[in-house]
Amino acid sequence: MALFEWTEKISVGVKVFDDQHKKLIGYINELHEAMKNRQGKEVLEKIFIDLENYTKTHFNHEITVLKAEKYPDLDEHLRQHHKLVEQLVELKDKHAAGKLFVSSQTMEFLKKWLTDHIMGHDKKYSGFLDSKNIQ
Ligand SMILES: [Fe+2]
Repeated sequence: MALFEWTEKISVGVKVFDDQHKKLIGYINELHEAMKNRQGKEVLEKIFIDLENYTKTHFNHEITVLKAEKYPDLDEHLRQHHKLVEQLVELKDKHAAGKLFVSSQTMEFLKKWLTDHIMGHDKKYSGFLDSKNIQ
């Protein structure tokens, strides 16, 4: 079984964003698999880079939509995204510098990193976007 499964419980009610969240979960699972299979450092490094790039792509997409719809909590949402990218880049850089050994603890951190954002922040735009007919 994968480390991290997408379930309806974390749906934000917008198909494209749910799909993007599933893809992010996919990268986190990929990293977990690579860790379990004791893949080399370069393999894990590449997954960190993919995860970072896709996180930025997804965040930009969310912000573009929220901005276009004049989401009232846009600034706070942007702040949260910046914080998440910073945390991810910190992990990626530490790993690249040989100062981080990817462990179960790292994986639990990443799982929580994404889940807490979806549950605590993304869910807040669900009703707003639904009222704008964006599902
Ligand atoms: Fe978000």
